[in-house]
Amino acid sequence: MSTTEAVAFWDGVHAARPAAGNPQPNARLSETVTGLPPGDALDLGCGGGGDALWLARLGWRVTAADISAVAVERLAGLARSHGLGDRVTAVRADLRTSFPPGAFDLICAHYLHTPFDLDRSTVLRSAAHALRPGGRLLVVDHGSAAPWSWNQDPDTHYPSPREVAAGIDLAPATWTVERADAPRRTATGPDGRTAEVTDHVLLIRRTV
Ligand SMILES: C[S@@+](CC[C@H](N)C(=O)[O-])C[C@H]1O[C@@H](n2cnc3c(N)ncnc32)[C@H](O)[C@@H]1O
Repeated sequence: MSTTEAVAFWDGVHAARPAAGNPQPNARLSETVTGLPPGDALDLGCGGGGDALWLARLGWRVTAADISAVAVERLAGLARSHGLGDRVTAVRADLRTSFPPGAFDLICAHYLHTPFDLDRSTVLRSAAHALRPGGRLLVVDHGSAAPWSWNQDPDTHYPSPREVAAGIDLAPATWTVERADAPRRTATGPDGRTAEVTDHVLLIRRTV
């Protein structure tokens, strides 16, 4: 599949959703980051931008990357309108072919799932290498499908956090797994419906 097809797909997904004036952060981000000193953060597949804006409000300098021009332009506009334009850099990037440059204290990837080919292990390994010593990589994946998800294939295998960590294949002398679990939460869909879903949460810290 070409980048053009993936961009068109994700632009369509984002354009079909009404632009939120104040998108909210993901629960796993707020529970992980609250209390950490702000630094440089990278949000991979930032989507509607709730995570990037929340981090920026806490004082983080955020690079937010997404393949969708619609998502990136919306986030840049939201950041300006919330007075956070100097803390949020929204960039278009196809993570299949490029990784944002820089060194980061926090990198998050929430629900970085796509129907197109994406070598997530390679992307997440690049992320682990882009951490500063002491920095953290938070990977939050779906562990189940919400009723409103585009993926309703009952045969879908949701890799466990340990499987994701094994795929990234990091040297334990440099990176340590701080969290690998599968908590449940109540999610709210685009039409306001709620459902119980499972998250797969992996938190890796670069120690040196
Ligand atoms: C399921 S959404 C999650 C969005 C957001 N992180 C959240 O938690 O709501 C996946 C996001 O990844 C983006 N994406 C998909 N493939 C990508 C790629 N190859 N490179 C960069 N972003 C991609 C999509 O545009 C979309 O915003």
